[in-house]
Amino acid sequence: MLKYFLYFIAAAIVIGLLVGGFHLFRVAQKNKKEMSQYSEKEVVNVKPLGKVLVIYYSLTGHTKDIAERIKKFTNADMYEIKTLEKIDAKPYFYMQVKKQLKDKNFPKLEGEMPRIDNYDIIFVGAPVWWYTIATPGFSFLEQMDFKGKKVVPFSTQGSNYGSFFEDFAKYAKNAKILESASFNNMPEKYDDQVDNKIASWLNRL
Ligand SMILES: Cc1cc2nc3c(=O)[nH]c(=O)nc-3n(C[C@H](O)[C@H](O)[C@H](O)COP(=O)(O)O)c2cc1C
Repeated sequence: MLKYFLYFIAAAIVIGLLVGGFHLFRVAQKNKKEMSQYSEKEVVNVKPLGKVLVIYYSLTGHTKDIAERIKKFTNADMYEIKTLEKIDAKPYFYMQVKKQLKDKNFPKLEGEMPRIDNYDIIFVGAPVWWYTIATPGFSFLEQMDFKGKKVVPFSTQGSNYGSFFEDFAKYAKNAKILESASFNNMPEKYDDQVDNKIASWLNRL
């Protein structure tokens, strides 16, 4: 009996690895195709966008990286969304987030909301968690009033942003939402193409 149980576990692990490997392969192919639209070297010039604020939440640095690239092109000021309690991505963290989303019970944030009166355009970025906005991003949107300002949402994710942008539009009070952009996490070899993707997006705003 134990023997069959062990066979079953071994088969489940092999199937899991095959399915996971195939998924990663598909994502890598999709990323390669998307990045092939953007030049590897020459970074496009970006038109002036006025006074820019980039607001972002980032747990592991990917969203921060995109936020900093936007800053590089626009000379923006930065505002980082921080949770009051430090988030520790333990294994049960995924289930904790799922429950926060189900109960709409989002984490408390540290500090004051940013002052936005002096800005012409405001970027707001967050990671995708469970196919929507990371819960600290929801906490932020619940508290924020964009007072009719131009707001540009952006996400970072492994491969699937789900309903991130629809949810953003529902939660962002009094925002005049412009074209959004989503960024899959990419290997370093695509750094220049990611910059070019950002530059072309900024030029369409
Ligand atoms: C709790 C949790 C849920 C996630 N859910 C998704 C998802 O639904 N789709 C996806 O493509 N990536 C998902 N990811 C991956 C993150 O969106 C991705 O790594 C993101 O770039 C992390 O941003 P950060 O480094 O700024 O924190 C998830 C990550 C975490 C921690």
